[in-house]
Amino acid sequence: MQLKGRIALITGAGSGIGRQLALEAARRGLTVALMGRRADALQETLSMMNRRGSHVALPGDITDPETRVALRQYIERWWGRLDVLVNNAGVVCVGPLVRTSDADLERLMATNVIAPAALIRELLPLLHKAAPSRIVNVGSMFGDIAYPLFGAYSASKFGLRGLSMALRRELKEFGVGITYAAPRATNTDAAGAFERLAAPMQMRIDAPEKVARDIWIAVARDADSVYAKGPERLFVLVQRLFPQLVDRSVASQMADRRVRAYLISEGVWPTAPQSGVGRGGFG
Ligand SMILES: NC(=O)c1ccc[n+]([C@@H]2O[C@H](COP(=O)([O-])OP(=O)(O)OC[C@H]3O[C@@H](n4cnc5c(N)ncnc54)[C@H](OP(=O)(O)O)[C@@H]3O)[C@@H](O)[C@H]2O)c1
Repeated sequence: MQLKGRIALITGAGSGIGRQLALEAARRGLTVALMGRRADALQETLSMMNRRGSHVALPGDITDPETRVALRQYIERWWGRLDVLVNNAGVVCVGPLVRTSDADLERLMATNVIAPAALIRELLPLLHKAAPSRIVNVGSMFGDIAYPLFGAYSASKFGLRGLSMALRRELKEFGVGITYAAPRATNTDAAGAFERLAAPMQMRIDAPEKVARDIWIAVARDADSVYAKGPERLFVLVQRLFPQLVDRSVASQMADRRVRAYLISEGVWPTAPQSGVGRGGFG
């Protein structure tokens, strides 16, 4: 994807990886809508961005359905389309499961899994309009390698990775690509939660600037995923042998006429092809 001139929405853009994603996006010529709960943090990010694009801060809580509707309405009104949705907002929860409250579990799943899924659903019409367009889901290395003391967090990132894989197969036909990003430990506010575990668990810690740069490089290449280089990458590969074969066969089932007929009858997909969507849409 040619990045210059594209419109991107980045959640969690007031700090850490999200802030760096916004700065790097602006450098690469995208216009960015910044999203997060703290308006002052978003303004701070905004003040660090170049003035070439008409970037905007849209404060709100991503777990709130009304916020998601308002985001869609704003983007629709101003740009009429969305080229890149970056689901970066997330929370980290560390500790043994017996110390993890129901409130913690609910907050993790609501922020890391349910909100990204619901936001994608809300914004799909605008991503369809922009096709070929892209969704970036910021997961974690813990979404591949489940870690003790990170059980609930791992579960949330496994969930986000599962969602990403399913949507890659579901949306390929419509020109909406998915990039799943799996950073390893990164030096941000969130990392404070596991500071004491970093050394005993032999975590290598990346700078958020590097993570953000790698993610935009992956988007520019239309890459399905982006993983940190290093031993962690090898562990991931050992776990997952040749998933592309499954990708290809399952994605091709979406083009089966019976699947198409079913989807049209359910009224869940557009009946006209989107421009530039490869083999064309339904109808
Ligand atoms: N740091 C790491 O080691 C690491 C490693 C791998 C993956 N990740 C992932 O990277 C992503 C970014 O995390 P980070 O490390 O950059 O930490 P961070 O600085 O704490 O960033 C998280 C961002 O998410 C926003 N956020 C949280 N809940 C939200 C909500 N309900 N609605 C809207 N925004 C919300 C926060 O802003 P507000 O508080 O203002 O809402 C914050 O700006 C997360 O998905 C995290 O799981 C982090």
